[in-house]
Amino acid sequence: MTQVPTLRLATRDDIEAVVALHQAAAAKPDGLARRPDEVTRDYVEHALTAPGAVSIVAVGPDGSIWGEIHGRRESVALFAHVLSSLTVAVHPDRQGLGIGSSLFEALIAHARTMDPPILRIELAAGAGNPGAVRLYERLGFRQEGRQVSRGRYPDGRLEDDILMGLLL
Ligand SMILES: CC(C)(COP(=O)(O)OP(=O)(O)OC[C@H]1O[C@@H](n2cnc3c(N)ncnc32)[C@H](O)[C@@H]1OP(=O)(O)O)[C@@H](O)C(=O)NCCC(=O)NCCS
Repeated sequence: MTQVPTLRLATRDDIEAVVALHQAAAAKPDGLARRPDEVTRDYVEHALTAPGAVSIVAVGPDGSIWGEIHGRRESVALFAHVLSSLTVAVHPDRQGLGIGSSLFEALIAHARTMDPPILRIELAAGAGNPGAVRLYERLGFRQEGRQVSRGRYPDGRLEDDILMGLLL
């Protein structure tokens, strides 16, 4: 039988486990922008606890973290209705089971409750990650633009970023 994780808001106590999760996801190519050594405790602590930060974790029955999504309200008043800096990771052993979709649905539901209101969620996805782009389109995100050669891999390969937005 397929095990279903529990989704809840992350807390400071989740930092170490979220670091390990993102490092495991980052070890696979063409996924997260950060390399494993760039997934630092400071990065995760900021993602989970900075002002305006929202982080949701998917927790397995044994208490281990299978997935995490985070974003942050923009701090400049003109953009304060925007949730940005979005990053999502599901553990490589748990991908393709609906956890990423559930995390997004929970984040979107949470964003709808935020006060002052969040009216827009935005993200960027590497053009070399078409599975992720398809997933975001299924969730209602629209492609809004393209940043040409925004990413550069160690072998010199350049990759465009696809900018996507969801209006609430
Ligand atoms: C992208 C990711 C968050 C999706 O979560 P998930 O739980 O695997 O996704 P779901 O099971 O809810 O949805 C499945 C869809 O996600 C996408 N997907 C599935 N596995 C994926 C993988 N390993 N990498 C990228 N996208 C994947 C596909 O579009 C898939 O739909 P399809 O079957 O029609 O191709 C997850 O695979 C992951 O953490 N990948 C590595 C990190 C990453 O790419 N982060 C996003 C950077 S923009």
